[in-house]
Amino acid sequence: MMMTTNLRSLEEKSRIAIVGAGVFGLSTAYHLAINGFTDVTVFDRSPYSNALYDQHRGCDAASADLNKILRASYGNRAEYQRLAYAAREEWKRWNNELRMIRKEDLPDGLEGVGDLYTECGFLRLSDSPIHPLSEKELAGLSNLEKQFPEYRLKNYIISDSSEEERARTDGWGHVLDSMNWSGTGVLDATAGYVRADKACVWLAKEAKQAGVQFIEGKLKGNVVNLKLVESLESLSDSKIVEGVMTADGVFHPADLVIIAAGGWTPYLVPDTRKLLETTAGSIISIQLPPLQERPDLWDKYSGKNWPVISQGHDAQVYSLPQIDGTIKIGYRGTKFTNYVSLPDNTRISVPVTAYTTPSQTHVPVQAIQEIKEFIRRHFPDLVTLGISYTRLCWYTDSIDNDFLIDYVPGYHKTLFVASGGSGHGFKFAPVLGQHVLDSLREQETDLTKIWRWRDVPQGRRNGLEEGETGPRVLLKQTLATEADWMSVMNV
Ligand SMILES: Cc1cc2nc3c(=O)[nH]c(=O)nc-3n(C[C@H](O)[C@H](O)[C@H](O)COP(=O)(O)OP(=O)(O)OC[C@H]3O[C@@H](n4cnc5c(N)ncnc54)[C@H](O)[C@@H]3O)c2cc1C
Ligand SMILES: *[C@@H]1O[C@H](CO)[C@@H](O)[C@H](O)[C@H]1NC(C)=O
Repeated sequence: MMMTTNLRSLEEKSRIAIVGAGVFGLSTAYHLAINGFTDVTVFDRSPYSNALYDQHRGCDAASADLNKILRASYGNRAEYQRLAYAAREEWKRWNNELRMIRKEDLPDGLEGVGDLYTECGFLRLSDSPIHPLSEKELAGLSNLEKQFPEYRLKNYIISDSSEEERARTDGWGHVLDSMNWSGTGVLDATAGYVRADKACVWLAKEAKQAGVQFIEGKLKGNVVNLKLVESLESLSDSKIVEGVMTADGVFHPADLVIIAAGGWTPYLVPDTRKLLETTAGSIISIQLPPLQERPDLWDKYSGKNWPVISQGHDAQVYSLPQIDGTIKIGYRGTKFTNYVSLPDNTRISVPVTAYTTPSQTHVPVQAIQEIKEFIRRHFPDLVTLGISYTRLCWYTDSIDNDFLIDYVPGYHKTLFVASGGSGHGFKFAPVLGQHVLDSLREQETDLTKIWRWRDVPQGRRNGLEEGETGPRVLLKQTLATEADWMSVMNV
């Protein structure tokens, strides 16, 4: 592909350091490499090559997860709707590619995985039976009608008899029959889930094959500092980043540093703190009995037979089909913050996880209560199993839920940020980097315009304006303990 001339100093041979090997970093690295950039290095402190993005083996990222929802329903945000359907095509292509690989040639971690994307359908239910479809849902349907009429036909409005009839004719009767719901909602047959950890393994492998270098681990891969020099070119306070320092004391020079550090981005790049805030979603698992004991439950809750389900305003609680007998359920009704003091006396929210010091895996009682109600309704035959595991999963929320993908102002285009996933970035893994590249090349598109560095608006800013005086601070919550998990029947 042709290089554009308006790149300050970025050339195909430029040394590019990417901090973070979650999907934002991986997709960026991959698309840089397949577009001719020959010196791309990704740093991450998680041991991904050995532990294969397994969240139980030291991999600490929003991307290192069992599964994530892929949906193109985006209310009135037509750009994301288009992008999600473009991504869906790529996920299907990945499925096909994987199917073509002989079993013995599958990369480590992908043996027996099957498809990365499963189109099990997504059942989006309203708050309560009396609630009409939300404005967001209606806007999404009307956008579908305009942009993808064929997909509108694969979205069925629950409680509308002709739409339900169409769902049955199209083979989705099993989902309608299994749900405990008499209110409104939509069954979206163009959605489903992706295998998050496995998709990262796949994308990392593709990136390596395209020539990307990876430096990983607590010491070697842990970026502790950006090397900054004051610019000599001007008297303003503009700076130049010359590379990154890792925890083993090594300096890695770079012409361009791209920060794709998820929830750790505001920590690494102070400039982003007015645009990004790190917040936690609450995740729980239900572990089904072993397959030999209850093959019926494994079958019932597999993606072949069971959809992704969400309930409530903005998908307050949601569940995904079982993977290896584990059913993941999440609560995002309130996203929690964890404020700490930094050496310079500023206070920001940073992730606290199973692998940070101090560590935390427990989630607030508020989340557990909402999730239990959801389990009673949608998984009544699992209530006695109890919850087997909980974790906080860290979002990087932007002030407007749009990603933040741009050069950081004031660094002579030596520092770039690709973050602000705002809880909906994973599905775009196959295509995201393509658009990061547009932004790096300063090619304006519908998407680069939405994601670029922006001014902070007055008033409501996605809760960022609350800071630590707000009610979402984790320290102000009562955390649930194992006792609360045992039987889902007692609240
Ligand atoms: C609870 C939850 C549910 C979600 N559900 C969905 C969903 O259903 N569908 C969907 O599309 N999206 C979903 N998302 C959003 C999606 O997970 C994120 O948008 C995406 O994974 C973010 O990727 P990332 O690369 O920006 O960050 P991360 O995946 O968090 O990766 C950041 C990486 O940076 C590394 N890092 C940080 N600091 C340093 C440092 N100093 N040195 C070296 N490495 C460093 C970390 O180790 C980590 O590997 C969800 C998010 C959460 C939290
Ligand atoms: C349906 O959900 C309600 C409310 O959670 C619950 O009390 C009831 O047992 C469920 N019924 C069935 C048949 O699952």
